[in-house]
Parts: sequence; structure tokens; C-alpha cells
Amino acid sequence: GVLSATALTPHKLRVYDPGYAHTLAYTSAITSIDGAAGHLRHRGYPIESLAANASYLDLLHLLLYGSLPTRAQLTRFRRALYAPSASLVHADVRAVVSAFPRSSHPMPVLMAALSALGAVSPALNPSLAGANVYACPRARARAQLKALGSMAPLCAGVFRHVSGLAPAFLAPACGDDLTFAERFLHLLGADAHPVFARALELLLLLHADHEQNCSTATVRQLTSSGVDLFSALSGGVAALYGPLHGGATEGVLRMLQRIGSVERIPQFLARVKGKQEKLMGFGHRVYRNYDPRARIIRDVAHQVFARVGSEEPLVEVAVALERAALEDEFFASRKLFPNCDFYSGLVYKAMGFEPGYFPVLFALARCGGWVAHWNEFLDDPDRRIARPHQRFVGEVGPREVPPVDERE
Ligand code: ACO
Repeated sequence: GVLSATALTPHKLRVYDPGYAHTLAYTSAITSIDGAAGHLRHRGYPIESLAANASYLDLLHLLLYGSLPTRAQLTRFRRALYAPSASLVHADVRAVVSAFPRSSHPMPVLMAALSALGAVSPALNPSLAGANVYACPRARARAQLKALGSMAPLCAGVFRHVSGLAPAFLAPACGDDLTFAERFLHLLGADAHPVFARALELLLLLHADHEQNCSTATVRQLTSSGVDLFSALSGGVAALYGPLHGGATEGVLRMLQRIGSVERIPQFLARVKGKQEKLMGFGHRVYRNYDPRARIIRDVAHQVFARVGSEEPLVEVAVALERAALEDEFFASRKLFPNCDFYSGLVYKAMGFEPGYFPVLFALARCGGWVAHWNEFLDDPDRRIARPHQRFVGEVGPREVPPVDERE
């Protein structure tokens, strides 16, 4: 309905396409989605197969370099990411994190930390270097490793700060042989039980990339202006912070808490159908079928709940809510199904994370996709500054500007 094309001149076609719902803004070979079938593939590998057989670092390697690593490549990649040159957090960046009130939401703190990282990395920042440093393959590779290697210690440092814990940006016990999730749990100082580490590894893998979602498109949009990688990533975190994107995991949990019990589901769904609320964790711009990631997360959720010992009461509410929505004509006719956020918040809660921290875990995972898209975009021969047009609906004028005393 809203899509309209206007031939302004014989040579210029402009399309009004709110939310870019029909616009192919970028070219990419990283991730493909068939929304009608509910398929997600990274470089041709189905997400189900990656979830069963690959680690988060395997997937990062695949997203960045185009192939799954051999064992030797994986070891080299892991060592490069965990090396102090990539993962040690500069004292000035730590000071920025510490300057925030402990009561801060962690996402703005993470944005500031990434921004500060760009400010203290002159050799990896074109604006500070006064030259396009990313034209040099070695500098570009260093920037990638710095961003990806810093993300886990930064996210852990932000967690410790807002949790009121002593600052710790790199735990001494972080060996080269740990998986990404194991090492991250150590950095947090959290319970690194194998069930938790495996669940976190899987959740990170499932959230690593999802083609031109709002935050990835934001990273590309910022990159188109020539800004440094770290500023672009800070912008990606800002986009992810929104309740319709990465904030949805937190939103699902708060919604389940508000509903509280199975008996109150019909009342809640009536409000959703009356457009007074949204059913968080449902619906997706691309999927018009079950999000394949939601299925995998639902299975892992039960392993985590079993480890915690007591069944989380909100699980019963979530399962009943999902069933009720799937059987309801309102959701069926709009092809609204659970997305990956519907169950992930419950898993994070069972692992002991506060809802405000859920989007940080999402950012940690999605940083892999952001960096891979940044790298791909820099090599795109079609790259131009992203500068959309507008449908102007104001007064064209020209109007006279009256002196200040004569204005009404
Ligand atoms: N609850 C209730 N109604 C919904 C929902 C929902 N979660 N999602 C979509 N709808 C309705 C819309 O109101 C609209 O109804 P209408 O035809 O009567 O006007 C119809 O379904 C189509 O929805 P759109 O808003 O056009 O879908 P869009 O592609 O623009 O939005 C989005 C997608 C933002 C994900 C939306 O489904 C939503 O807000 N979901 C809840 C938030 C959420 O879970 N976000 C996480 C997304 S996944 C991720 O970021 C990892």
C-alpha cells in the first residue's frame, strides 16, 4: 500500500519505502534468509547444522573470512583474539566505564566504551590517523581483531561496573584453550558450569548475524561516511538498544513478569489485539514463519532450567502464551510467530543475568556480524555515502522572515 514510485525526471526514479521494507540497500554474501520457509544460512550453512557442529569462534571465522576454520586456523584465530594486543582494555576506556553511575543501563555504558576505544586507537581510526588506514590490509585486520577481541572484556567490565563489583577487565585465568563463552563467563566472574557455557555459546552463535537488521544496517550506514570502526560499532549498539530490536529480549521477560500467571494470558492477548500492547518476542520483518533460532533456543532452555534445579515459573507462562498466540487468528493471519528473543531472556535469567544486561549479551554476539559486514562493505565497489531522500510534506515557501517584534 505505502510503496509508491515517482518518475521525477526521465532519469530519476524515487521510491517512498517506509522502514526500507522493500529496498535492497546493500550487496552481501554473508547471510541468507528465506523468511517464508523459515531458513537461515550463513555462507550456505544452515543455522541448525552450525548450532549442532560449530562453536561461536568457528562461526566468526566463517562470517569474516568466508570459510569454517581448520583446527590449526581456529587455534591461530582464537590466540589472536585473546592476545593482549587485541583484548587488553586501555586505562582511559576503563575510566570511561567507571565514570558512569552504577545504576546506569549497561547499553549506554557499552556505547561510550566503544566510542572511547576509537578515541584511544589513533592507528586504527582514519579520522585520528588523517588517512584511510583501512586501505592497508594489515591495519584493517588489526582493527577487526581489536574490536572483536575487546568486546568480551568490555562487556564483562560493564557488567561488573553496573553490578557494583570491583573492576576487572581481564581475568588472569583466561587461557588460550577456553571457548569464547567459557572465557567470557570467567571474565564476568560468573558460574562457568559446562551447561551454562554451552548454552551461552549456542545463544551467541544464534545471534551472531542476521543480514541487514536495524543495527547491522546502522553500522553500514555509519561506515558509508568513512567513520572509524569503533564509532560505527557504538552506533550499532545504540540501534540494538531499542525495544523493537535487541531490547526485545528484556521486553519479553518484563512482559512475562507483568502477565504473571497462565490465567491472565487471555486478558493480555485481548490488549494486544486491541493494539494497546505488542506481544514481545513475536513477529519479524523477514520471517513469516517460525524463526529457526527460536526452536533451537527453546530446546536448550530446558537443559539450563534443569541445571538450575527449580523450574522457572515464567516458563509455564511463556509456553502457554506461545500456544495461545499460535492458535489465535489475529497472529495467524498476520503470520506472526515467535522470534529468537521469545525464549532467550528466560535462559539468561536462569543463568543469573539481570534483564537490563540481556541486550549487552546480544551486542557481544552481534559484534561478529557487524565487523564482518563492515569488512565486506569496505570492499564493495558500489559503496557510496548512505543518503536517502525524503517525501517533503511541509510548506515550500518562499516565506518572508518578519523582524522578531512583528512575529505572532
Ligand atoms: N504483537 C502484536 N502485533 C504485531 C506484532 C507483535 N509483536 N508484530 C507485528 N504486529 C502486527 C502489526 O501491528 C501489524 O498489524 P496491522 O496489519 O493490523 O497493522 C502487522 O502485525 C504487521 O506488522 P509490522 O509492524 O508491519 O511488522 P514490521 O516488519 O514493521 O515489524 C517487528 C517487525 C518490529 C519485529 C514487530 O513484529 C515487533 O514489534 N515485534 C515485537 C518486538 C520484537 O520481538 N522484536 C524483536 C525482533 S527480532 C530481533 O531483533 C532479534
